[in-house]
Amino acid sequence: MAGTAVVGLQWGDEAKGKIVDLLTEQHEIVVRYQGGANAGHTVVVAGETYKLSLIPSGILRRNVRCVVTGGVVLNPATILDEIDGLRRRGVFVGDNLMLSDRTHVIFPWHLEEERLIHQRVADGEAIGTTMRGIGPCYRDKVTRSSAIRLGDLYRPSILQRITSIVAEKNALLGLKGGADFKPLDAAAIHRQYQQFAERLKPHVGDTTAFLLDALEQDKAVLFEGAQGALLDVDHGTFPFVTSSNSSGVGISSGSGVPGRYLKRVIGVVKAYSTRVGGGPFPTEQPNDVGEHLRQRGNEYGTVTRRPRRCGWFDAVAVRYTARLSGVDALAVALLDVLSELPEIKVCIAYEIDGRRLTTFPSHVEDLARAAPVYETLPGWRAEISACRRLADLPPEARAYVDRLSQLVGAPVEIVSVGPDREQTMFASDRLIRRA
Ligand code: GDP
Ligand code: IMO
Ligand code: MG
Repeated sequence: MAGTAVVGLQWGDEAKGKIVDLLTEQHEIVVRYQGGANAGHTVVVAGETYKLSLIPSGILRRNVRCVVTGGVVLNPATILDEIDGLRRRGVFVGDNLMLSDRTHVIFPWHLEEERLIHQRVADGEAIGTTMRGIGPCYRDKVTRSSAIRLGDLYRPSILQRITSIVAEKNALLGLKGGADFKPLDAAAIHRQYQQFAERLKPHVGDTTAFLLDALEQDKAVLFEGAQGALLDVDHGTFPFVTSSNSSGVGISSGSGVPGRYLKRVIGVVKAYSTRVGGGPFPTEQPNDVGEHLRQRGNEYGTVTRRPRRCGWFDAVAVRYTARLSGVDALAVALLDVLSELPEIKVCIAYEIDGRRLTTFPSHVEDLARAAPVYETLPGWRAEISACRRLADLPPEARAYVDRLSQLVGAPVEIVSVGPDREQTMFASDRLIRRA
């Protein structure tokens, strides 16, 4: 069976956590391969809600190995809190969690850099990051000279390394922050991170070797994407993106697993669109429709609680990200949120400077000028969150899902009508069949 991936095709929060949890039953290993604690993945099991940020959503099933690979940026304090929180709720976290020694570590200077250094891009709009130190840590990784990986915390040279980095960062941050910046204490940071490292030690290893062995033995591995493809640093709405490759193209580089093992990619979409933070959003509805979506969909950020910007489904954007991510099938989530709208719109093209376009612009300024061309479909009044078979859906809801599939160019295999595991419909048993 080998590798299956679940990736978000919009701007994040597409319900990847729920879909990963569902598919985990057929997998032995679940892998987080990019991003960090900017992610907030919700899994609801029998009315209990779990919010996962760094630990793969597979942790809720006892026999699954959860792996965090080198493509992730890891805040040790955050993952330790997450481990403690799960244990308090009776979830087993022990030898089922493995962390790559190649993972880059987030330090207090990354959080300070994000707080003090201007987050605005040239036109003055803020990126609106999650303030989890993600961008500064990835920047240090690429720059190399002041980066620290998890494996470095167990080497004798670590104190010296932290001391010289702190001297450099204090100088830089002192200039930027002025009176608002309190210099960092290298010895205190070293002591604290030694404690973190000690607690994390049983989990740390070479995840690349582990995953390659597992795949060579034909074990079923599930890759859990974070963020969404439109936030991909290379292929998304740059610069209003995150700092990793969050589309399907990031799976190999983040995990160390070559593409030949990736047999199936599931693209997750909401039945509408949301975005947290800055950047263009052509189908945004800052009106009653947007408010309907925010209230019914409880569209407030999992990580920062910011209200999410809401709008119609953008088939131009999702066709682009589905192709980019190589998706075999779609999971359409939060369909229930559209109930009671008299009509539903889908963006099928953009008009930019009088020209009609069905391709996604590569430059954000063009996207910002795009006027969406809509197709209008009839809505449905009935509540659908109790539907368990596609045949039970109102004909308008089925027609809507079929139209999304046609416009995006991929079959819909999963439809979700509520946060719980049970509130899910499968088009066939293709995805839930055991290998
Ligand atoms: P992720 O980051 O992609 O895992 O998604 P989030 O967890 O940030 O956001 C998705 C939200 O929608 C969570 O609160 C889920 O519990 C919830 N959710 C998932 N599927 C459905 C659905 O089909 N209908 C509704 N109403 N809520 C859903
Ligand atoms: P999940 O995995 C939604 C957004 C931020 C901001 C931009 C850059 O739950 O889908 P960053 O802190 O990454 O430098 O912020 O990316 N963002 C997300 N939006 N869901 C996420 O994760 C996100 N992770 C980052 O709001 O616009
Ligand atoms: Mg989320």
